[in-house]
Amino acid sequence: MKKILVTGGAGYIGSHTTVELIQAGYEPVVIDNFIYSDGSLITGIEKITGKKVNFHKGDCRDKEFLVELFKTQGPIDGVIHFAALKSVGESVQKPLLYHQNNIESLLVLLEVMKQFNVRDFIFSSSCTVYGQPDHIPVNESAPFKRAESPYGATKQICERILEDSFVDGFRIVSLRYFNPIGAHKSSLIGEVQFGNPNNLVPYITQTAAGWRDKLTIFGGDYSTPDGTCLRDYIHVTDLSVAHLLALKFLDSRKEDTLYEAFNVGTGQGVSVLELVKGFTHATGVNVPYNIGARRPGDVEKVFADPKKANSVLGWNAKLSIEDALLDAWNWQKKLTK
Ligand code: NAD
Ligand code: UFG
Repeated sequence: MKKILVTGGAGYIGSHTTVELIQAGYEPVVIDNFIYSDGSLITGIEKITGKKVNFHKGDCRDKEFLVELFKTQGPIDGVIHFAALKSVGESVQKPLLYHQNNIESLLVLLEVMKQFNVRDFIFSSSCTVYGQPDHIPVNESAPFKRAESPYGATKQICERILEDSFVDGFRIVSLRYFNPIGAHKSSLIGEVQFGNPNNLVPYITQTAAGWRDKLTIFGGDYSTPDGTCLRDYIHVTDLSVAHLLALKFLDSRKEDTLYEAFNVGTGQGVSVLELVKGFTHATGVNVPYNIGARRPGDVEKVFADPKKANSVLGWNAKLSIEDALLDAWNWQKKLTK
């Protein structure tokens, strides 16, 4: 049984991936400092899998904590690094906090991995590294444009650090997520928003549930078919499976050191308006909305060319947007209860 350290595993994508890891026979060791989570998703993972989660509260920037963890947990076979601050808007208000947390976490983690000769590493990157690409669908060889936010800059810098550090004997996969949405089909884990939701789908479900009066669609005058922004929305369970395939990919490779980046998206561009209408179609619940001003920092349109992940990792998105919206709605109803 392979032991995988999962940082940020009490959060949205980390919790879903931990479920997939346990169900595939891995032994995850989960850490989180609870800065943007609490224990509720850990409880959800335990209910879904029937297994106690090997969880340790601590910070990735805390070298002593990590050293002790690597010592006491025995040999760790690989690391999936989700832990980061991820709010684009907050990063504009608190850029130093974002740089400090996201970059120092990575540096300390790599240092401790090196000390314990743990070499396989999967990094949560983002399509935000591309900025507004010249060509869409965007593929992995597109140059990084200037990041739109400090958050995006941290992902670019972390990828650069990883590319440079592959010479230290690391075997690294960066997964560039497009827009993860939805929740586990059990409704036992999903996206928990601390404070006001920043992302579209939690805003849609909270408005549908009556927690909010109205959704504001940020901008109706983009040069897209219906004037609203295009994104590539991917079910969080499909995204989680990509991490398992990335672990298998590293296992299958004999190189002492490597660095590969993969887009993880469906390849389908969906507008904000289409998503709102899709939600009503899937659930039968109306979402009052108005079209407001553009949100500063938004990219007009971006969706993935996922061919590299399809062919090299053997990964394909299996769940539809409708599945994701229904699962997000079922999760919201659970939260409302
Ligand atoms: P999340 O906020 O739900 O989970 C991140 C977890 O990391 C939280 O539980 C938080 O408490 C923890 N954390 C933060 N800093 C830490 C530190 N220094 N030490 C220990 N724990 C720490 O976010 P998520 O949506 O699950 O995102 C996971 C990863 O995926 C992040 O790296 C994020 O940047 C990346 N990502 C997310 C999206 C998205 O839309 N959700 C898109 C692209 C990339
Ligand atoms: N939107 C609205 N109204 C809202 C919220 C969002 O119209 O109330 C629009 C946005 O303007 C954007 C689209 O919905 O056009 C998607 O916005 P999200 O905030 O859900 O997602 P982003 O594409 O801005 O960013 C997300 C994550 C980032 C990540 C990026 C790429 O928040 O962390 O996807 O993975 F980097």
